Amino acid sequence: MQTERILLRPWRDDDAETLFKYASDPDVGPRAGWPPHSSVEMSLEVIRTVFNNATTWAIELKATGEAIGCIGYLPAKGCPIPAREGEPLVGYWIAKPYWNQGICTEALRLVIDHIRKTTDIKSLICGHFVDNPASGRVMEKCGFVATGETYFDDTQYQSKGKPIRVLRLVFFPHLPIWKRFSQNEAAFRQAQRP
Ligand SMILES: CC(C)(COP(=O)(O)OP(=O)(O)OC[C@H]1O[C@@H](n2cnc3c(N)ncnc32)[C@H](O)[C@@H]1OP(=O)(O)O)[C@@H](O)C(=O)NCCC(=O)NCCS
Repeated sequence: MQTERILLRPWRDDDAETLFKYASDPDVGPRAGWPPHSSVEMSLEVIRTVFNNATTWAIELKATGEAIGCIGYLPAKGCPIPAREGEPLVGYWIAKPYWNQGICTEALRLVIDHIRKTTDIKSLICGHFVDNPASGRVMEKCGFVATGETYFDDTQYQSKGKPIRVLRLVFFPHLPIWKRFSQNEAAFRQAQRP
């Protein structure tokens, strides 16, 4: 999957040094509920375990060939966020020097398009700490709508007592694209009713 400036591809062992450079930044991992990487060895271990699956991708900046972020979706099973049956959870991060350039939104749109074309997944769920509004903005720009639920998941790194805003993207394959987002709006309004 690619656009003019980014390529989504599997992580490789030789990304470990770059991953450590960006994932050791204390402003990145804790916002997503994981600790900053403490060594290149830890980054390599993460590549070989956490990132080693078919639906997690490195976000490569084509201009440099560097992996400057990560995006993926996984079964929400076992995760305390209130997902529907079979509804995957989306996650992502971008290296700090590349924030606010639209890169995460671009990557998430690629993933959504990929899911629409290659799976029969009916909806996606995502959550962000309320004090991390940039992440919520990425989801909203991609059509996610707040479910009306604020949630706490104390199992994440530094998450104790921090509220999580939950958003969902529902696919309506039978509707034309211009109608799908308004259907999500309707679902949102429904969720707001007492
Ligand atoms: C959240 C994150 C992935 C966003 O990546 P990004 O490539 O900078 O995202 P984009 O540039 O596509 O979009 C960011 C949007 O948030 C907005 N934004 C940035 N800071 C904001 C703030 N403090 N309040 C509200 N909106 C904010 C930007 O203006 C932009 O919206 P716009 O296009 O309408 O102007 C990145 O900041 C990051 O990796 N953070 C640390 C890890 C993390 O939070 N992961 C997600 C966990 S749920």
